[in-house]
Amino acid sequence: MSNLDPEKIPRHVAIIPDGNGRWAEARNLPRNEGHRKGVENVREIVRACSELGIRMLTLYAFSQENWDRPRDEVKAIMRLLSRYLRTEAEELIENGIRVGAIGRLEQLDSRVQRDLERLIRRTEQNDQMRVTFALSYSGRTEIVDAVRQIVRAVESGCLDPDAIDEKCVEAHLYARDLPDPDLLIRTGHESRISNFLLWQLAYTELYVCESLWPDFGKPELVKALLAYQNRERRFGRTSAQLRREP
Ligand code: IPE
Ligand code: IPE
Ligand code: MG
Repeated sequence: MSNLDPEKIPRHVAIIPDGNGRWAEARNLPRNEGHRKGVENVREIVRACSELGIRMLTLYAFSQENWDRPRDEVKAIMRLLSRYLRTEAEELIENGIRVGAIGRLEQLDSRVQRDLERLIRRTEQNDQMRVTFALSYSGRTEIVDAVRQIVRAVESGCLDPDAIDEKCVEAHLYARDLPDPDLLIRTGHESRISNFLLWQLAYTELYVCESLWPDFGKPELVKALLAYQNRERRFGRTSAQLRREP
């Protein structure tokens, strides 16, 4: 941990916490046990990120496509989510963490919606760190929803089509006030984005690790941060150009 450069801690880390099912299956446990462990680990990693000075963490908790999983698994995940949202408030408030959510939240069970709204409200004054949960989230539907809003604005005469630029599109995304992630971590060894933050990941550093999400602790997080700190973020330019800059 001491090897981490405090000056180069990524401001915004996004995580695809994958591998709960495989973690359980490897132990001959039901998949839902993996989800239970996975939720416990969310608590650990939020704590670790806050200790390491990460200002924003976005967690892919449930994708649009995850609705197609077996009914019982979806129900178990919703129950676990609801419990997490109800039991975390004290610690989050104590640590100055503000909670947010992105996705088609109206599709969530009404109980989860209620718990989520309550937690968002209770933590909205906090300013030490922001934790955003992507729920019922799809990067493609996020872009579709933005396009719909933009077209409505054009139709009502409030927006000139020639004024549509990247900034305008960004202003219509779900979390319009969150900067793009600096680092994306995917646990569970799959090298894909799975429809997460398609627009925002354009220049994010990607880090895939073998650990399954319930096994991904602070040491693994530090390893990911060290890998990030050794990357050169060029944004299309050359190394020489970067070196010449102050
Ligand atoms: C990620 O773990 C959690 C959710 C998608 C909700 P998985 O359930 O996808 O675990 P694996 O990939 O099957 O091991
Ligand atoms: C991505 O994991 C979504 C979440 C972690 C919530 P999946 O397990 O759903 O992704 P695929 O199906 O392997 O791409
Ligand atoms: Mg998976």
